[in-house]
Amino acid sequence: MASVTAYERLRQALPARPARWLVTGCAGFIGSHLVETLLGLDQAVVGLDNFATGYARNLDEIRDSVTPAQWRKFLFIEGDIRQPDDCRAACREVDYILHQAALGSVPRSLADPQTTHAANVDGFLNMLVAARDAGVKRFVYAASSSTYGDHPALPKVEENIGRPLSPYAVTKLVNELYADVFARCYGLESVGLRYFNVFGPRQDPEGAYAAVIPRWTRAMLLGEDVPIYGDGETSRDFCFVANAVQANLLAATSENPAAINQIYNVAVNERTSLNTLFGMLRDALLIHRPGYRVAGPSYRDFRAGDVRHSQADISKAARLLGYAPAHRLADGLRLAMPWYLSRFSPAAPVAGAGGSGA
Ligand SMILES: NC(=O)c1ccc[n+]([C@@H]2O[C@H](COP(=O)([O-])OP(=O)(O)OC[C@H]3O[C@@H](n4cnc5c(N)ncnc54)[C@H](O)[C@@H]3O)[C@@H](O)[C@H]2O)c1
Repeated sequence: MASVTAYERLRQALPARPARWLVTGCAGFIGSHLVETLLGLDQAVVGLDNFATGYARNLDEIRDSVTPAQWRKFLFIEGDIRQPDDCRAACREVDYILHQAALGSVPRSLADPQTTHAANVDGFLNMLVAARDAGVKRFVYAASSSTYGDHPALPKVEENIGRPLSPYAVTKLVNELYADVFARCYGLESVGLRYFNVFGPRQDPEGAYAAVIPRWTRAMLLGEDVPIYGDGETSRDFCFVANAVQANLLAATSENPAAINQIYNVAVNERTSLNTLFGMLRDALLIHRPGYRVAGPSYRDFRAGDVRHSQADISKAARLLGYAPAHRLADGLRLAMPWYLSRFSPAAPVAGAGGSGA
């Protein structure tokens, strides 16, 4: 008989012990999945977002996927983490914080480091202060694999980091330093989750700063050029969003003292090149649209600031949090595809679009 995972046990237990959660960046990609999963487990959720890169339609999708009673337990605050008052209002009477709000994207930070810094560092510090003052039980935050910078070792283990390769990576490293200092100086319990290329439904496919999977899926569906920066042998550890949701819920509720005030890799421990990803994405699309013609990729110059290879050692999260990613890349692409199809082929609605299965 298969053993019950720590996450399955937690999902079974949570509905009977409702708590109040704050999800910052709730209208964004990962934040919206956290809200959806928590509401589905009968938790009360406060969401904070300023719609910098998030969308009201993501909140609409959550509303449509939970029951009316669960939706009534959601309180949305339109506000900005760069404003201390907004952070204070959002933290009121909250048990757990899942802090996702930030400006993502290495190229965005290269183009405009100050705006990225304001959201990712000033905003982060505002949230830490508000969390400390509100006396929350735990502050879980989105860190990043970009913190490994130029460290050459593979797979990445949490304690060995290199020098940051972009302003974005600096901001995420500073987050870890501040969280550590708040634990030491004020006793604020925190957990940092270094996400590795998270993907899934609702990840924004539009704009210059879109991540590779949604950008390519959109381009394939619209018959546009699919650009590969470099020779296509750049590799990543792609992590389906349901795995990231699992890591957040385990990190927030862990009662293992050794698990608290730690940083964890959140990924699958699978390394996939961009050339391989292209083929897998085309295969996932062909499952839903047999016979669809996808043109080959077009190769461009390498992009500044990009790390060449990335793969996570996830044994620390497995050992201390009981993290066990339930989805690998191919599986996640298959689950994400209906959302993209419903977005870009509106004439042909697709069953199952929306949720992450988290
Ligand atoms: N997606 C990934 O692969 C990945 C990898 C590493 C780290 N991360 C981190 O995970 C978090 C969530 O990323 P995502 O992919 O869901 O991105 P996203 O852009 O979809 O979500 C971020 C959300 O934060 C909100 N936000 C931004 N600035 C804000 C501000 N000043 N005040 C209030 N809200 C603000 C945005 O409007 C958006 O809804 C971010 O901290 C990001 O840096 C993501």
